[in-house]
Amino acid sequence: MSLRNYDDMSDQDVVEAIHRAKAELGASLTILGHHYQRDEVIQFADYRGDSLELSRRAATTKAKYIVFCGVYFMAETAAILCGPDQIVIQPVIEALCPMARLATAAEVSEAWEALSNMWGGDLLPITYQNSIAELKAFVGQRDGAVCTSSNAAALFAWGFKQKGHLLFTPDEHLGTNTALAMGIADREIGVWDRLGSPDPAALRDCRVVVWKGYCYVHTGFEPQHVDAIRAQYPDAMIIVHPECPREVVAKSDATGSTSGIIKMVEQAPAGQTIVIGTECNLVYRLAHEHPDKRILPLYERTCRSMSMTRMRNLLYVLDSILMGQPVNVVTVEPETARWARVALDRMLQAS
Ligand code: 13P
Ligand code: SF4
Repeated sequence: MSLRNYDDMSDQDVVEAIHRAKAELGASLTILGHHYQRDEVIQFADYRGDSLELSRRAATTKAKYIVFCGVYFMAETAAILCGPDQIVIQPVIEALCPMARLATAAEVSEAWEALSNMWGGDLLPITYQNSIAELKAFVGQRDGAVCTSSNAAALFAWGFKQKGHLLFTPDEHLGTNTALAMGIADREIGVWDRLGSPDPAALRDCRVVVWKGYCYVHTGFEPQHVDAIRAQYPDAMIIVHPECPREVVAKSDATGSTSGIIKMVEQAPAGQTIVIGTECNLVYRLAHEHPDKRILPLYERTCRSMSMTRMRNLLYVLDSILMGQPVNVVTVEPETARWARVALDRMLQAS
């Protein structure tokens, strides 16, 4: 396959070449873009969204080629949800979410066995979508479901209709924030630390056990950042993503998924100061799109994985499709995909 020398192209040439490739591929192509993608990439997305919205798009689009600008677990989820004749492509296949790699199915299995035995089988697993396909499959095989940051409370409520205890992986913070927001008491929320010789008996009185995993972008926000911003802008509305630590959430005015944050910004009155605790590609885009409001990052945090995709990477994969030899195709082993899909379908039905 002979490809162009992308580094020698000007930005304008790249933009024009992507538009031409999109026009040529027409309805056979859908480009999905997560809100954390760079402006230079997101401008080409046919659909932008949070994890849940992009999963729904992947499950319903008829396009033969789904080019997913995001991180690997998102493209992998799209590959599980789309049809057998569709092809999912990730422009930078090395763009991995580090949090998704903090829980393997084998590690979770140890926690599951210990807790399930202690509670006589009265335990349901729920995994955040930011997880590897093998863990989603593990959860699907044990009657559990996937959730995202926009439907975690709905999935927890669904889970409690099935069983008395939940094991939530891999984000300690989303799990804890969701449980607290549902009114679950502090003493009923426990943490499973795979690196710290966890003692199941110490968790006997818990209703929710959360895996000790985290997002390094969102755990970079600290309570003192909120205090400092409040002192500087006393009338500001502070919105944070629920992957932030509970102490940060407690000091903020609202939490939301990336799309939830966007909706709150759109609904805020002109002149409002809004401080946002999430990845800064999204925060700066919102500031640019809403010049009538003052929009500031709580603290500047970048997701390095999300920022890996550049428009030249997008052009490269579009060229490969046009040449009939798509590169960076994301596939999932069929048995893993089958069970992961069970867990994802439960989410899509319950939310
Ligand atoms: P959203 O589902 O809110 O878009 O979150 C995805 C994510 O990776 C946040 O860090
Ligand atoms: Fe993963 Fe955090 Fe990046 Fe989201 S922001 S993709 S959770 S590392």
